Amino acid sequence: MKQHFPVERFESIVTPFYAYDMSLLSSTLEAINEAAPESFFCVEYAIKANHNPDILKAISAAGLGADCVSGGEIRRALECGFDASKITYAGVGKRDDEIRLGIESGIGCFNVESFEEMEVIAAIAAEMGRKAPVAIRVNPDIDAHTHHYITTGLAENKFGIAKELLDKAVDTVLSYPSLELKGLHFHIGSQVLDYEPFGILCRRINDMQDHLESRGVHLQTINVGGGLGIDYDNPDENPIPDFKAYFEMLRSNIRLREGQHLHCELGRSVVAQCGSLIARVLYVKEGIGKKFVICDAGMTDLIRPALYGAHHVIENLTAAADSPTEEYDVVGPVCESSDVFATSERLPLTRRGDLLAFRSAGAYGEVMSSGYNCRVLNPSVEF
Ligand code: LLP
Repeated sequence: MKQHFPVERFESIVTPFYAYDMSLLSSTLEAINEAAPESFFCVEYAIKANHNPDILKAISAAGLGADCVSGGEIRRALECGFDASKITYAGVGKRDDEIRLGIESGIGCFNVESFEEMEVIAAIAAEMGRKAPVAIRVNPDIDAHTHHYITTGLAENKFGIAKELLDKAVDTVLSYPSLELKGLHFHIGSQVLDYEPFGILCRRINDMQDHLESRGVHLQTINVGGGLGIDYDNPDENPIPDFKAYFEMLRSNIRLREGQHLHCELGRSVVAQCGSLIARVLYVKEGIGKKFVICDAGMTDLIRPALYGAHHVIENLTAAADSPTEEYDVVGPVCESSDVFATSERLPLTRRGDLLAFRSAGAYGEVMSSGYNCRVLNPSVEF
């Protein structure tokens, strides 16, 4: 179904800005809740994908938890209505004041990524007279077959504790009276479209659980992280990822124990398709054998193409529907050769003043924008 943009309204707003389709977000949340029964799953939203307060309020109202990676995200989650007990604090570099904030707020879990961090959390919790709930992030050494900048579960990555050290990690957590062992946490990477690596992960988790149980260690939670990919090429055909298939795949591969819950931390799949970056065409520059569409949004507003070679579908919102098409390189105004959204992109005949939508930009778009070149991204708009 074609996404309907309120183009007339956009015409009067200063570009560039992000536009969010709130009804698509709410259908996406409904689809998640339908596909992931609460008796089995605890779905947390990875706030890093988009921390816009209205988006967060819609997500917390749908009952999801929050996966946070900084004290700032914990604060934002609490302000936007997330239940403290449904907040997880993850990340390889937690500061002491952020750990204190997490304990003070009564968050549900710290995902710990090193022995050094366990020691610090234990000391802070002891000093506060509290017990901190922790899950051990295990690096499962699985190739998620995604872009190497967003693959996280390989032994060579900085994330988690090597699976060979699992016993030692469990013993260490159990040795601190101020820590409570909740469970295990994993994350293999992002924009994963192939379910096979998730299947391997589930089987590896089953083996780890069997092993720990044989040692008399029982876990309350298993967290498989996030990573479910979206269809960047066909946002209109696939505006909502196939959550049914994803959760069913997890449910059929993982062997949960009585009373256990399976936690997931979905970011991109929740918010990517509801957001677009809206820009205006400044010039159509005739090069030699090439035409450039130079627009007023650049890599400072949406860095994914420059950073990962990602491609976002570009739609000309104002060109006539029956207009002939042409090939263009679509670029931004920033003084960097990597400030290119697309090369040889087929678009309707494009003119100065046209409005462009860079689709599927709701995740890791606005949140990764920067002020490089003293550039200003205008406030986002909802429709
Ligand atoms: N859990 C952990 C531990 C993570 O590191 C991430 C993402 C998530 C959950 C959420 O993953 P998602 O469901 O969104 O795939 N900026 C990059 C993506 C970086 C992802 C970082 N970690 C991009 O624009 O593609």
